[in-house]
Amino acid sequence: MDSSKTSILVSGALIAGISITLVVQTLLKCQKKSGPGFFKRLCCSNSSTELEQLPPPWLRVKDGEEIKVGVEGLIGETPLVLIRSLSRETKCRILAKVEFLNPGGSTKDRVGKGLIKEAEGSGLLVPHQGYTVYEGTVGSTGISLAMICRARGYNCHIVMPDDQAEEKYSALRALGATVEKVRPASIVDPGHFVNVARARAAANEKGFFANQFENLANFTTHQTTTGREILRQTGGNIDAFVAGAGTGGTLSGVAHCLKERSNNIIIALADPQGSGLYHKVEHGTLYTPEQSEGSRRRHQVDTVVEGVGMTRLTDNLLAGFDHIDMATSVTDQQAVSMSRFLMANDGFFVGSSSAVNCVAAVRLAKKLGPGSTVVTLLCDSGSRHGTKFWSDSALETNFNLTSAIPTSLDFVGDF
Ligand SMILES: Cc1ncc(COP(=O)(O)O)c(C=O)c1O
Repeated sequence: MDSSKTSILVSGALIAGISITLVVQTLLKCQKKSGPGFFKRLCCSNSSTELEQLPPPWLRVKDGEEIKVGVEGLIGETPLVLIRSLSRETKCRILAKVEFLNPGGSTKDRVGKGLIKEAEGSGLLVPHQGYTVYEGTVGSTGISLAMICRARGYNCHIVMPDDQAEEKYSALRALGATVEKVRPASIVDPGHFVNVARARAAANEKGFFANQFENLANFTTHQTTTGREILRQTGGNIDAFVAGAGTGGTLSGVAHCLKERSNNIIIALADPQGSGLYHKVEHGTLYTPEQSEGSRRRHQVDTVVEGVGMTRLTDNLLAGFDHIDMATSVTDQQAVSMSRFLMANDGFFVGSSSAVNCVAAVRLAKKLGPGSTVVTLLCDSGSRHGTKFWSDSALETNFNLTSAIPTSLDFVGDF
């Protein structure tokens, strides 16, 4: 070999050596920044772990509307609507975030996305690698998770009480989720839907328990999305925010965000009948003795309303509990009457928790007086409640409730 060939070979080897060292150093730096799952994600993932990828250049339309990427891109940024009938009757601005316009049909899409995004970020979930997301839910969170799992390449296993509206089970099955129904039980019972979901995840080495009740990604999602959107959409001109609590993530997260802007914004809890939270906010104890968790073996919250009401304090509720200024309790009949009133006067076809929110919003507006602005949420649509809350015969037969359309808001009562 002549000397010029040798020197080419030597310099080539030197350059290759330097390049390999640089690549290894960069990877080690990235791992340090990105946490324990970095190498696994780098090697195993066949798509980016970021839920919000930048649109590829061909999706950027010059001077056009922003194009969303995937079903995850459609979540959040919901419109804020003025509810005409309620605003006219109270001489206030009653505004609602139209959460049923999320792609999975409820406010829970935000939480499903937040929980999965955080798990991917910390390496607990890797797309398209046979992972299974487990959750205990009354339905809405399950539907949101099932939808996002499809888009991200995960299996989804949902554990639900067996007394929820039939529509939710069918939606979950249509989205390819495994649905496991359990008898309603106390949270101290291993058969409670949350405990069953946790156990199933623990038994699967590629299982992830989403844990919407205690995982604070729920609270932070609402703080950084729902709360900030409300501030932006109202320009900060808001006197009060009112909502129910199912996990407490919405109320706590939004409360944190709004109170940071102004301590004068009132945060109110709307609680359905049978829930212990009203009692906790107003009187300091979670339950009347007969409501004590564990003493009642069957329904913890006896109401036709689905999704809100609890007889325990979750980490997500506690995260913002000190910001809750007041609470009001809404009966099943008042919720049903509000849903029929909104349908007849405004064309809004909403689910039960939205109706509870609107009863509380009207009460609060009356308490604050004309000219005030009260914001709430329309959490999901009535179409998810056709066999229960929106079935006149089921309401009459099973719950002894009337679905007659009210001619005024007199049924609402006072705060
Ligand atoms: C339809 C519906 N509305 C409202 C809520 C309450 O939201 P959060 O869990 O943030 O308290 C839920 C919770 O599951 C729900 O399913």
